[in-house]
Amino acid sequence: MKLIPFCIWAVSALACGSALAQQAQPAQPAAAKAAGAPQFTPPPADAIPEGPFGDAVRRGQDIFLHTGKFASQYAGNSLNCASCHMDAGRQPGASPMWAAYVLYPAYRAKNGHVNTLAERLQGCFQFSMNGKRPAADSQTIVDLESYMYWMAKGAPTGVKLAGQGFPALPKPAQEPDYVRGQKVFEQHCTLCHGAQGQGQHDATGRMVFPALWGDDSFNWGAGMHSVSTAAAFIHANMPLSRGGTLTEQESWDVAYYMDGHDRPQDPRYAGDLQATIKEHHGGKNDLYGREINGKVLGADSPPAGGRLTGHAPAKSTQ
Ligand code: HEC
Ligand code: HEC
Repeated sequence: MKLIPFCIWAVSALACGSALAQQAQPAQPAAAKAAGAPQFTPPPADAIPEGPFGDAVRRGQDIFLHTGKFASQYAGNSLNCASCHMDAGRQPGASPMWAAYVLYPAYRAKNGHVNTLAERLQGCFQFSMNGKRPAADSQTIVDLESYMYWMAKGAPTGVKLAGQGFPALPKPAQEPDYVRGQKVFEQHCTLCHGAQGQGQHDATGRMVFPALWGDDSFNWGAGMHSVSTAAAFIHANMPLSRGGTLTEQESWDVAYYMDGHDRPQDPRYAGDLQATIKEHHGGKNDLYGREINGKVLGADSPPAGGRLTGHAPAKSTQ
């Protein structure tokens, strides 16, 4: 916890986040020990080659770390890809990019067809970044794919590697609970993410800690809005540098509390909440459309698109 002031005042918030994330590494390998799954270690960041291909990899890494700066036309919030795919997309148990690269093209129930990697990346911009889909042949997608391809060098294709995704948690002993979740949040999360889950920006407007809900967060179409996905992410990775320290029940409860708040609208919403619920929501772990604390989530969310449409603070994001 001594590191917090450093984080808040650090010239580069991201460097701070990653530095802490790296410290967290020794605590992480629970995920990497998944029985039977092959291990893989990506090449170090300083091994990116010279030349035009290496330049694309470096641009991809920049986009990944500072999404609002290097892909500003597609990012609707202050998050970065690395806000959730920690340590620049390297960290096992935080859906690392080297493990993702070898799993596409793949069928996804979310949209009912086989998705290329490009389409998967487009979805991240539209939902997690509350933004706009870059064209599949855009420089942004080509650079991100180059970064991922380089990181996966030597990994077997079509194999689920140890550390892939967010390690799923078993069902909690007790139903996740908003009030218990709030207590966990106040004790373990507000220091960095703010009392209203709004995150923190430094004096120049640069995001230091990402928002967990509200205008500047991921939208209702993002994977993290599912309580089970959020619980898995939180259990493995939060509080920052102390992943694995919350109990499974605390992780479910705080995930429920986080996802029990409003956030930007699902971009697939066309004016009818019930229709959107029917088509895209409604699972047990999906709070969209539910009444929590007297508020029907999704009923009057800010429109999707965030700062691209003027509906979130136009903070600079590095
Ligand atoms: C708010 C958190 C968040 C942000 C920000 C985010 N993602 Fe993700 N990402 C997720 C979650 C959660 C999943 C998996 C869950 C799902 O598919 O529903 C995921 C899945 C992925 C996958 C597939 C992983 C696999 O193993 O199949 C890729 C690739 C990916 N994201 C890339 C990106 C890129 C590139 C960006 C930035 C443009 C980004 N993500 C931003 C949360 C995030
Ligand atoms: C010491 C500061 C700190 C604490 C405490 C902390 N976080 Fe985080 N959190 C971060 C940082 C920084 C990131 C972005 C990851 C990075 O940069 O490495 C992040 C990312 C996240 C994300 C994904 C990005 C987003 O905005 O959706 C979620 C969800 C999250 N934290 C939830 C929590 C929860 C829940 C708690 C409490 C149990 C918590 N965090 C405690 C610093 C913290």
